[in-house]
Amino acid sequence: MLKLFNKAKNSYLCNTSYPLDKSNFIKYKTDKELEFNEDKLCLYIHIPFCTRLCSFCEYIKYKKDNKYEEKYLEILEKDINSFISKHKFTLYGFDIGGGTPTCLELSTFKKLMSIAKKINKLNTVDDYEPSIEATFSTLSYDKLKLIVDAGFKRISLGIQTTNTKILDSQNRNIVSISDMKKVFDIIREVGIKKINVDFMYGIKNQTVEDIYNSLECIKILNPDQVTLYEMRYNMVNQKASISKELLFNQYSIIYEELIKLGYKGRFSQNTFSKYNDFGLSSYLRYRMIDNISYKGFGISAQSKTSQGISYNIGKSHESFDECIKQNSFIEKDTYLLPKEELVAKYIMISLYYGMFSLKIVSSILEKDARKYYKRELDFLISNKYIYIEDDKCYLTKDGFKYYGAVGSLFYSKNVKDWFMGV
Ligand SMILES: C[S@@+](CC[C@H](N)C(=O)[O-])C[C@H]1O[C@@H](n2cnc3c(N)ncnc32)[C@H](O)[C@@H]1O
Ligand code: SF4
Repeated sequence: MLKLFNKAKNSYLCNTSYPLDKSNFIKYKTDKELEFNEDKLCLYIHIPFCTRLCSFCEYIKYKKDNKYEEKYLEILEKDINSFISKHKFTLYGFDIGGGTPTCLELSTFKKLMSIAKKINKLNTVDDYEPSIEATFSTLSYDKLKLIVDAGFKRISLGIQTTNTKILDSQNRNIVSISDMKKVFDIIREVGIKKINVDFMYGIKNQTVEDIYNSLECIKILNPDQVTLYEMRYNMVNQKASISKELLFNQYSIIYEELIKLGYKGRFSQNTFSKYNDFGLSSYLRYRMIDNISYKGFGISAQSKTSQGISYNIGKSHESFDECIKQNSFIEKDTYLLPKEELVAKYIMISLYYGMFSLKIVSSILEKDARKYYKRELDFLISNKYIYIEDDKCYLTKDGFKYYGAVGSLFYSKNVKDWFMGV
């Protein structure tokens, strides 16, 4: 166990990603489709277009080309209608992400919002909070009015860093803080309840000074929520030797500043909020914290049930034409997973939130998690990497520094063997 922990401690592979490599799940691959018999569900739509492609970005996206958009929406709508007509469920959350959903042409964006409006009218829980991702330069008053009319309560905008040199070197669009402020004013004017901004740390060449400078814009914009993303290098074609200590220092600085600015959040959490909420859309909250099943629509989107996981076409970097030819984006790669893989997947995603629930682990395993993972939990508690309160395991400060290693103890034997061999 110690050997695994020490190897994972400094490995760039160990973060919230799971599995660590596509080959890890090959033996669970099936021709069957995932069955969605659950009565609780979250939905996600992936819009894979962007006006520019940032080099740090780990998501499946294609350079925006107007002639593809309508066809994409047509297939998407067909897939969604077919799923909704066959399944009965209570909707816990719904996110539209990407890519950049708001980069669609206004007419296509209208179509997307009409699909979303239908989803938002399904049977939902009381704290249902649908959310949409956007970038500053792709928003307009007309699009924002459509977003409100479709029923969205939250909008999430990426800032990442305000350092123009870094943004430029990563091929990302540069937006001035005064232009960001103008967009914020329109969002407030049209009546969207919550604005979240995404920040990144650990980007190549990002320094502590850049981080302090970037945080200045939070003072000016005053978003309701802030989400911090540690740069993950395992999914992109970029090499940088960023130590866990450097990542920890950068996170700690941002944490201190956010708390000073009145944001709430536990150390180790990646979401912060001005309110007593989770700092997350209900889609992410129920997916990450409560392990609710989710269904993804669109190229490369992921779905998960209590039986397994599946990825829509595009996840293996198929060309856009290849995806369109299928005339449906639904589940291309499906994996029926044993319980210990489902546990590992749940724990890795919960670590974004700096915790995981033993009650949920026990319910996945159908066994007492405290007994099943006794050695692992004892090791983590005695070394002060986690502490347990009620049924929840929380990362300590040291545990957060090496959260990837904490998570690695819960990898399946299959994935542990693969990792120790690389
Ligand atoms: C779907 S993406 C982007 C949404 C929107 N297009 C934008 O650029 O703001 C959501 C967030 O993921 C984060 N992200 C992208 N690539 C990442 C990576 N390689 N590692 C960690 N976070 C990443 C960024 O903070 C980004 O805002
Ligand atoms: S970060 Fe956003 S804008 Fe940049 S490539 Fe990724 S999805 Fe597109």
